[in-house]
Amino acid sequence: MSHIFLPRVLEAVIEPVGGIADGAHPMRAVVKGAAFNDGSWDGIRAQKVADLFDSMALEWKERENEGCSMVMDAFDRIQFTTGRALEVGCGTGEVLEILKGYFDEAVGIDISHEMLRNSNYPEADQINCDGARLPFPSESFDAVVIVNSLLFPAEVDRILKVGGTCFFVSTKGDGTPIYLSPYDVRKALGLKYQAFTAASGNGIWTALHKSA
Ligand SMILES: C[S@@+](CC[C@H](N)C(=O)[O-])C[C@H]1O[C@@H](n2cnc3c(N)ncnc32)[C@H](O)[C@@H]1O
Repeated sequence: MSHIFLPRVLEAVIEPVGGIADGAHPMRAVVKGAAFNDGSWDGIRAQKVADLFDSMALEWKERENEGCSMVMDAFDRIQFTTGRALEVGCGTGEVLEILKGYFDEAVGIDISHEMLRNSNYPEADQINCDGARLPFPSESFDAVVIVNSLLFPAEVDRILKVGGTCFFVSTKGDGTPIYLSPYDVRKALGLKYQAFTAASGNGIWTALHKSA
C-alpha cells in the first residue's frame, strides 16, 4: 500500500512554532514507546500521564482547539465510512463535537478523568480509560481519530473495521510535544494501511485506510 502526500489546502493562520527534536521533549520517548510497543507503557507511566493531564484540564478547556479545522480539512478531502467513530485522547471534547456532524455515532475516551469532567461537550459518550486497552469489541469502529495524543497501533488495528480509517493529527506539526512523524504513524500501523498525508494549518494530518 502506498503513502501519498497531498498539497496543503488549509493555510497556516499564525506564525508556525519551531520543530522540537525528539530528545528535547520528555513526551517524545513516551509517544515512540507506545507506538512501537517497546514495553515502556506500563501502569506507572499511564498514571503519570493521567496525572499530568488531570493537572492541565482546567486550562485546557479554555484553549482554542486548532485540531477542529484540521480534522475537518482531512474529512473534506479523504473518503471514509461515516458509521461509528472513536476519538482516542479526546481531552475536553472540542474535536469530539465536530465528529458528531460527520458520523452516525461518536465516542471519546481519555485516560484523564479531569479532562472528561471538564469537557466542553459533556453530553457526548465519553469513557475514562487507557488507549492501550480499549473496552470495545474487535472491528467495532469505522474510524479512529487521534489529535495530539498517543497511538497504540495494536488496539487501533484491533477495533477498526476493514475499510475503516485512522486519522492522526499533530496540530503544530513537528513542534507538537506528542508527535509522531507521518512515516512513523504508517510504520507503526503497518503496510496494510494506505496513507494520505497533508500539511494543514500549522499542523499535519495523516489518514490511513485499513485493508484486509
Ligand atoms: C495533548 S492532549 C490533546 C487533547 C485533545 N485531543 C485536543 O486536541 O485538545 C492529549 C490527551 O491525550 C490523553 N491521553 C494521553 N495518553 C492517553 C492514553 N494512554 N489513553 C487515553 N488518553 C490518553 C490525555 O489525557 C490528553 O487529554
